[in-house]
Amino acid sequence: DEYKKPQVVLVDGLLVMPGTLRHWEKIKSFQARPDDIFIASYPKSGLMWTTQVMNMIKLHGDVEAYKVDKTLIPFLEFCRPDEEPAVEKINNLPSPRVINIHAPISHISKSILENKCKVICILRNPKDVAVSFYHFHTFNNMLPNPGTWSEFLQNFMIGKVGFNSWFDHVKGWWSLREQPNIFFLFYEEMKKDLGYEAGRLASFLGHDLSPEAIKNLVKQLSFNAMKANMDEKFSNLSSPAGFTFKQFLRKGQVGDWKNHFTVAQNEVMDQLITDQLQGTSLDFCYEL
Ligand code: PPS
Repeated sequence: DEYKKPQVVLVDGLLVMPGTLRHWEKIKSFQARPDDIFIASYPKSGLMWTTQVMNMIKLHGDVEAYKVDKTLIPFLEFCRPDEEPAVEKINNLPSPRVINIHAPISHISKSILENKCKVICILRNPKDVAVSFYHFHTFNNMLPNPGTWSEFLQNFMIGKVGFNSWFDHVKGWWSLREQPNIFFLFYEEMKKDLGYEAGRLASFLGHDLSPEAIKNLVKQLSFNAMKANMDEKFSNLSSPAGFTFKQFLRKGQVGDWKNHFTVAQNEVMDQLITDQLQGTSLDFCYEL
C-alpha cells in the first residue's frame, strides 16, 4: 500500500516524520535534567543494541533479571500517530532518565549540553548505515517509500532523508569529543569486541562489570541471540510500524554495503567521505 506510506516533512530545516512535526514545539522546548543520560545516534547506527547493553549493565549482567526486564529507552522525537508524543512521557519520567535522540546537535535542546548531561554517541560507517536505512524504509510503515536503492543512496548522500545528513550528524557530535561527558561507541568496535566496549561504557556510567557479567552480556547480546529472543521478550509491544524484531535485526554485519553498492556508487561515496570527513580525525572501519 505504497500511497499510505508517509512523507518526511521539513521543520526548522530538519526532515522528520509527520508525527514528530505535529509535536515539534514540545520537542523543541524539552528540558534536560543534569542527571539525564542521552544516547545520541543517527538512525541505524546500533541504538537498539546499545540500549540492551545498557540494560544488561544496569542489571550487573544478571541473565534471569535481563530476560524479564522490559525496559525500552524512549526516543525523544518519536510520536505514534495514535498516541501522546514520547516527549510527554519523558517529561513525566522519574530521574535518572535514559533518553534516545536522533536529531543532530544543531537541533537538540540547549539544556542537554548546558547541563553537561552524559551523552553516549553511537557511530557506524556510512555505507552500512545507508544500506540498513534503505531496508528499514522498506519494512517500516512509518517511513516513506525509499524508491530504488540507487535513488535512496542519492538522497542519503545529500541528506534528504529523515534526520538529514549523516555527515553533519557525526561531525557535530565528534566536534564535542573533548568534553568529558560525551562518550563514543563505534558499531564496528562493538562487533569486534562487545565485552571490551561494554566494559568501557560501564565505566563511563560509573559501573564496574565483573568478568562473569561481561561474559553473560556478550552471550545475550550477540546478533543471533538478540534476533532469537527480542520478539518474545517484548511480546507486550504493539508496533504501529508493523515490523518484528526479527525483521529489525536484519543482518547485523560490518560490510553488507558490498552487497549493495556498485563500483561507481562506491567511488562517489568514497570521495564524499574523504571530502566531508577530512580534518576531523574521524575514521571508520568498512570491513572486519
Ligand atoms: S534505529 O531504528 O535507528 O533505532 O536502528 P538502530 O538500532 O540504531 O540500528 C539497527 C541496526 O543495528 C543492528 N543490530 C545489531 N547488530 C549486531 N549485533 C546486534 N546485537 C544488533 N542489534 C541490532 C540491526 O541489525 C540493524 O543493522 P542492519 O545492518 O540493518 O542489520
